[in-house]
Amino acid sequence: MSLKKTVLSAVQPTNLLHIGNYLGAIKNWIPYQDEYDCLFFAVDLHSITVKQDPAELHENTYRSIATYIACGIDPKKATLFVQSQVPQHLELAWVLTCQSSIGELSRMTQYKDKSQKHGDRIPTGLFVYPVLMAADILLYRTHVVPVGDDQKQHLELTRDLAERMNNAYAEQKGGPDLFVVPEPMIQKSGGARIMSLQDPTFKMSKSDPTPGGCVFLTDSDKEIEKKFKRAVTDSGTEVKAEGQSEGIQSLISIQSAFLNESYDAVLSRYIGKQYGYLKVDTANIAIEKIRPIREKTEEILKDRSYLDSILKAGALAARGRAEKMMNEVYKRVGFVRE
Ligand code: TRP
Repeated sequence: MSLKKTVLSAVQPTNLLHIGNYLGAIKNWIPYQDEYDCLFFAVDLHSITVKQDPAELHENTYRSIATYIACGIDPKKATLFVQSQVPQHLELAWVLTCQSSIGELSRMTQYKDKSQKHGDRIPTGLFVYPVLMAADILLYRTHVVPVGDDQKQHLELTRDLAERMNNAYAEQKGGPDLFVVPEPMIQKSGGARIMSLQDPTFKMSKSDPTPGGCVFLTDSDKEIEKKFKRAVTDSGTEVKAEGQSEGIQSLISIQSAFLNESYDAVLSRYIGKQYGYLKVDTANIAIEKIRPIREKTEEILKDRSYLDSILKAGALAARGRAEKMMNEVYKRVGFVRE
């Protein structure tokens, strides 16, 4: 067994990835690759909790894996795979479902938000989604989970479920715990929450009702420029030393996340300057950072056999580990094994 600690994270392959996914998630995974045992994957099982077009889901799954590689995830260092190719995620999800309660799942704020859109036909998948996420994490004895702050509550549920299972199925007094209780790593450096450029009180999302609010990693230089130039700020004209509006804060955060600089360092360059400078500079920085990712993604996408070989190797490695864990889980639960 590897002595390195395990880091695991995932993104839904439902749509085109945007700078919120990049700055808030994928970019922060890169530095772990050398020192940790890393698993990164596309959670297609999570994505069907809401309606998906099958052809689009299929394409976007390839695209998301290609994008991870273009962003700097090295398949030789990290295990890169597609969730549905490792069926043990579903097996563990069922065992954990039986340890979870309707009350605690009803308290998940993401569920409360998302379910509102569905009237009286709330998909059951949306409700049990956090249990599947807990299974993703616990299956690999994960120590650290880098996520955005919107996932914090799901991580707390994961920790609760791990402890509950460890107590319910302790092998013998003093014996090894079944699961590792994972630590969340909430990204603080400006990148944790990238807001919509059109309504900076909302998280950047592809389902942004206002066009231009979301900057995709597939956007052309021109499109990126246009979106930043039209970013909503406020009725002021100059950047102040403090008390910024959300729009200005968001632009500074985006710049600080792209440049790996502190929020205050970026802010200090703009105090007393017109908003336009901040917009144009942020646009140019985003253009320079996104262009190589976009070009590399397209190049990788053309080579399906390369992508298939990466996914095959990733699934094989993940399944090997997951199978061992499920054997142990089933044994402790009391199931008769072959
Ligand atoms: N729920 C996460 C999101 O929507 C995606 C996710 C699924 C995930 N399984 C995970 C993230 C495991 C980290 C670890 O962003």
